[in-house]
Amino acid sequence: MRGMNGRILAKLEYLNPGFSKKDRIALQMIEEAEAQGHLRPGQSVVELTSGNTGTGLAIVCAIKGYPFAAVMSKGNSMERARMMSALGAEVILVDQLPGSIPGQVSGGDLELVEQEAERIALDRNAYRADQFHLVGNARAHYLHTGPEIITQTGGTFHAFCDFAGTGGSFAGCAAAFKEHDPSILCFVVEVAGAAPLAGEAVTKPNHRIQGGGYSMPTLPLLDTENIDGYIQVTEDDAIHVTRRLAKEEGIFAGFSSGLNVAAALQLVEGDLKGKTVVVLLSDSGLKYLSTDLWQ
Ligand SMILES: Cc1ncc(COP(=O)(O)O)c(C=O)c1O
Repeated sequence: MRGMNGRILAKLEYLNPGFSKKDRIALQMIEEAEAQGHLRPGQSVVELTSGNTGTGLAIVCAIKGYPFAAVMSKGNSMERARMMSALGAEVILVDQLPGSIPGQVSGGDLELVEQEAERIALDRNAYRADQFHLVGNARAHYLHTGPEIITQTGGTFHAFCDFAGTGGSFAGCAAAFKEHDPSILCFVVEVAGAAPLAGEAVTKPNHRIQGGGYSMPTLPLLDTENIDGYIQVTEDDAIHVTRRLAKEEGIFAGFSSGLNVAAALQLVEGDLKGKTVVVLLSDSGLKYLSTDLWQ
């Protein structure tokens, strides 16, 4: 980014087939379930999603012959629902809580989606590809995303910061980075006002950063041992940086990608002046054409 005091290395995860980092966890979770005998040939698969995990699962399930149902909040952008349907998934949309705002999915909204996913899984005797609990989620990033970044950067960076939804990408990448070089600092990124992981009171449970920031005080996959600190970014700053990425760098990514880069900018403008920070750009800007991100 222009005028900054350091270097940000961004891994463009929107270059995956489903245009997000979640393709990786979809493949890992399904192949682990197959290997462990938890998923029978032709069995239905169900998962709640903000759209990206569902897209990854739709791709993997289509190829491997599992009927897949994606359960998503109506608060997520409709591009995601359309893409999952196009890939052969059944998409079940769940109403938001009364008073919730479209485009802003809260922890409460997600709880409704969780209940519906669980109900459908029981009803259909389906395999629940539970991204909040299955270790395959973090393992996909530990085995692939993290090591790819180490190879592609020459392994010589100082810090990593990542927005948490399930916490899987943070957990997997941080574990790989710490193993490679324990001095690499790893920061969890949250939306200002929705930062319970940092121990802050939640004052803004609804925000526009889709895919995370659900105000859950703990995340099963997030191993606090590898967390060196927490960074908060305002929604406005995240949106401003997402737009700057497009206009200045030719990087067409989503809200959470801008949030991660905004956090990295805080680092190189603060304690890590002149240093190199790694971030993931989680999904494509194409997933937000119906929102107010692009004007
Ligand atoms: C666009 C986007 N960014 C960030 C995240 C958070 O990633 P993780 O679940 O690995 O913490 C997600 C998760 O769905 C996402 O879809």
